[in-house]
Amino acid sequence: MSFRIYCEKDYDAVSRRTASVIAAQVVAKPDCVLGLATGSSPVGTYKQLIQWYKQGDISFAEVRSVNLDEYYGLAPDHDQSYRYFMQTNLFDHVDIEPENTNVPSGLADDPAAECLRYEWKVAELGYADLQLLGMGRNGHIGFNEPCGDFPKQTHLVDLTESTIEANARFFASADDVPRQALTMGIGTIMKARKILVVVSGADKADAVCKAFSGPITPEVPASILQLHPDVTLVGDEAALSKLREANA
Ligand code: GLP
Repeated sequence: MSFRIYCEKDYDAVSRRTASVIAAQVVAKPDCVLGLATGSSPVGTYKQLIQWYKQGDISFAEVRSVNLDEYYGLAPDHDQSYRYFMQTNLFDHVDIEPENTNVPSGLADDPAAECLRYEWKVAELGYADLQLLGMGRNGHIGFNEPCGDFPKQTHLVDLTESTIEANARFFASADDVPRQALTMGIGTIMKARKILVVVSGADKADAVCKAFSGPITPEVPASILQLHPDVTLVGDEAALSKLREANA
């Protein structure tokens, strides 16, 4: 088992550390499968990776990517879709081949079929070598919301009010936030060889503490990561404060 925690002084340092773990993966295995995440937490990480790419330090030419999730009902060019997020925050600025990037389709007529297709795609790629994860305030990973069990595979999920409220800041109003999403399952995520969690800010402190020092329960989906053999957690002081207190 390997569980490493990096406590960094601020968001920039969190982003550099997280990017360095991803860069090390890409250097060690240039054709690796990177599991990628959206949300505000990894934005700085992607900025740092773009900078290193522009300096000629890393290349994504052979990398394949699989994203965690997508809002159901949003077109790829909708400015709040996760496909759009990935294009504008990373893919458009590095040498990754467009056909090597994978995000579930938010416009599929048959979401169940799309979930199955996506799960097979990730399986065909051999699952992620390294999966980057942010964390919701309620401990969700991808869009696996607190519920009665750990969903195994890619599935359609109803978003909780807490997630809709948290993500409303990116939309004109909470009413505009899609109510459903397609997300890798907990099983899909756990099949990644390595997990890299990035968190920052005091509003994540509770979720981080529950996830890494509380009971393993689907009520805190990220708590399953305690069973993963290779996890790196990168956070700032504020996000890691309660976990530290719990382990003091
Ligand atoms: C969304 C995404 C998650 C992300 C979470 C936290 O719900 N589906 O993958 O981890 O938001 O986002 P943020 O980093 O903006 O707090």
